[in-house]
Amino acid sequence: MFISFEGTEGVGKTTLIHRIYADLMAQGKEVILTREPGGTPMAEQIRALLLSVSHDEAMCHDTELLLMYAARAQHLAQVILPALSAGKTVLCDRFTDASFAYQCAGRGVSEDKLNLLNKSFVAHMPDLTFWLDAPIELGMTRARERGALDRFEQEKMTFFEKVRTGYATLWQRYPDRIKRLDATLLPDQVFDQAFQYLK
Ligand code: TMP
Repeated sequence: MFISFEGTEGVGKTTLIHRIYADLMAQGKEVILTREPGGTPMAEQIRALLLSVSHDEAMCHDTELLLMYAARAQHLAQVILPALSAGKTVLCDRFTDASFAYQCAGRGVSEDKLNLLNKSFVAHMPDLTFWLDAPIELGMTRARERGALDRFEQEKMTFFEKVRTGYATLWQRYPDRIKRLDATLLPDQVFDQAFQYLK
């Protein structure tokens, strides 16, 4: 199984992933926990470039999209595909849906470009995706409490509203794969919702 976790900032993805990871491990399953952008040393370097706020120039939207896919290609080849081939369960903090939500819906990059990249470089889509959904303000308050904001977290609320709408579009488009979780609930309740789908 390949399971991805999506949502805007501060919705509790990390907490949920760790709960599910612990739960599956306790069941004796072989599970790996990974994230995007990142998941390999090289892809983590690309992540640092993507999230850094200390560039002297603005990152153009196409560069951002291509860096996401450079990191993803490396991550797929080095981590995700080998793990799936070995019969392991892969829990991935964000995957291609984030590129649709952030780069297409958020930044306004054309869906044609994304489709081309997905067709060319993504051989395997998640079997199941959890979309943790909560009002933007709630998540941003949590993100601010975590400390310094990265390049994405520094975006305006209107950007995140577009990202959230992007996720809603995907959820309506792929109801079998994408399951919406109410991320305004307590962590235990969010886990219970996810657990029902996992069963
Ligand atoms: P994180 O906050 O979940 O660690 O993710 C890092 C940031 O990268 C987050 O603000 C969303 C963004 N992102 C994209 O814009 N496109 C993508 O394809 C991915 C995977 C992440």
